Amino acid sequence: MKVNILTLFPDMFTPLTTSMLGRGLEDGKWELNLVNFRDFTSDVHHHVDDTPYGGGAGMVLQIMPIKKALDSLANKGKVIITAPQGKTFNQKMAQEWSKEDNLTFICGHYEGFDQRVYDLADETVSIGDYVLTGGELPTMSMVDATVRLLPGILGNAASPVEESFAHGLLEYPQYTRPEDFEGMKVPAVLTSGNHQKIDEWRHKESLRATYLHRPDLLENYELSSQEKIMLEEIKQEDTNA
Ligand code: ADE
Repeated sequence: MKVNILTLFPDMFTPLTTSMLGRGLEDGKWELNLVNFRDFTSDVHHHVDDTPYGGGAGMVLQIMPIKKALDSLANKGKVIITAPQGKTFNQKMAQEWSKEDNLTFICGHYEGFDQRVYDLADETVSIGDYVLTGGELPTMSMVDATVRLLPGILGNAASPVEESFAHGLLEYPQYTRPEDFEGMKVPAVLTSGNHQKIDEWRHKESLRATYLHRPDLLENYELSSQEKIMLEEIKQEDTNA
């Protein structure tokens, strides 16, 4: 996969060249192309913004340098603008995007885009209901969530399948040594060696975490008959607690 990022601050993107994603870049598992759209301005001062028509405070990012930067790309693929008014990014979108050969992100900074810039994109996407100074951090979050799903990026190939949201539920709790830390004990089932019991426990704890912390996820989740029983037990245990 090739990821193009149109930004005024290409230096901000070092996190994507570090750790697992950085190793993936070195191994040629994905490509990162940072494009500074200030390079596509034609005036001597390299302006990328101007005052809004109709007046008012602030500046507005112009369409021309962004359009030229997009046109310079050999293959744009899906074009995504990051903005707080977009639809909220989620794991399903990361899974869909991870199947693309090319993705292009357009990052704004401080100010809004000329409305016509949105027409150049396939999607406008937000990372949550809060406002950041620019689209760089949202883009990094979305690229990380997407690229880590590509084959060969994570060490343990099974882990993206097991994790939170992959099946619509949050992840079950995990433990490692020591078995007893200052009286805080690992659940006995996990050291029992009974793999069927361990699987059942993990499934139920996944459901419990979702019920307690993200009940909204259960609204769109189809419970199996076994899960319905587990959920009743969880509710009972919750009222008894
Ligand atoms: N730019 C500024 N805030 C943002 C957000 N919450 N999501 C995506 N892009 C943004």
